[in-house]
Amino acid sequence: MSTHKTVSNVTLTTLLGIMKRGEKFACLTAYDACFASILSEVGVEVLLVGDSLGMVIQGHDSTLPVTMDDMIYHTHCVKRGNRGSLLMADLPFMSYASESQTLENAAALMRAGAHIVKLEGGAWIANTTRLLTERGIPVCAHMGLTPQSVNRIGGFHVQGRDTEQAQLIIEEAQMLEASGANILLLECVPKSLAKTITESVGIPVIGIGAGPATTGQIMVLHDVLGVSPITPRFVKNFLKESDNGIPGAIEAYVKAVHGSSFPGEEHCFN
Ligand code: KIV
Repeated sequence: MSTHKTVSNVTLTTLLGIMKRGEKFACLTAYDACFASILSEVGVEVLLVGDSLGMVIQGHDSTLPVTMDDMIYHTHCVKRGNRGSLLMADLPFMSYASESQTLENAAALMRAGAHIVKLEGGAWIANTTRLLTERGIPVCAHMGLTPQSVNRIGGFHVQGRDTEQAQLIIEEAQMLEASGANILLLECVPKSLAKTITESVGIPVIGIGAGPATTGQIMVLHDVLGVSPITPRFVKNFLKESDNGIPGAIEAYVKAVHGSSFPGEEHCFN
């Protein structure tokens, strides 16, 4: 029998409450109305319309080709299916390169139904974060492995492995919080680094390939369902063990995150 509880109108305050109580919340990417309704009905607190859609929906080998029109279209679709999760949407590559462009594009995502926008970077997005949050647009700052910079980084590699780089990420996380960021997202960093950052900021931190210490966990929907062509170390296919198809797999993911049994040691970078 299913024991899940449907989310109801998750806000940033809900996530702060979860963090303060020492609990966990679950996030997943969603790109269409049908999956959005399954995910939010099963209890996923945050739906991300991720620019990963460039890879898992459009078949590109990076997120760089994704446009604002793509993001607006998919945000509209997810909004129609959402049943109360917090809806986060990505500002795609080069859509926040100037102030006027940032404001126009972030506003377009909010009009399409997003409750918060996500952008990738470190110190250089501090001013952008302040610009948006002062104007009423909440921001999630995506740090660590930032896929929009894959060509500068030189591949999809773990970030913050050496002491100097780890220290820089810690300082940038604190700077982004001070600039008004409402959520931090850490992708592919050693679990000890994610723990240090989670403990040193007063806002929720979401992790992917960042170990168990973060308040939230996020995965790409296609990875949870085992349909992605590549499976990085931090991915777990929850459909394999589901006895209730896709809703069962999503429910298992949510329970594993809430109960801290996912991610396990085998999904972490040390
Ligand atoms: O675009 C996306 O799906 C993301 C997640 C990998 C966090 O940014």
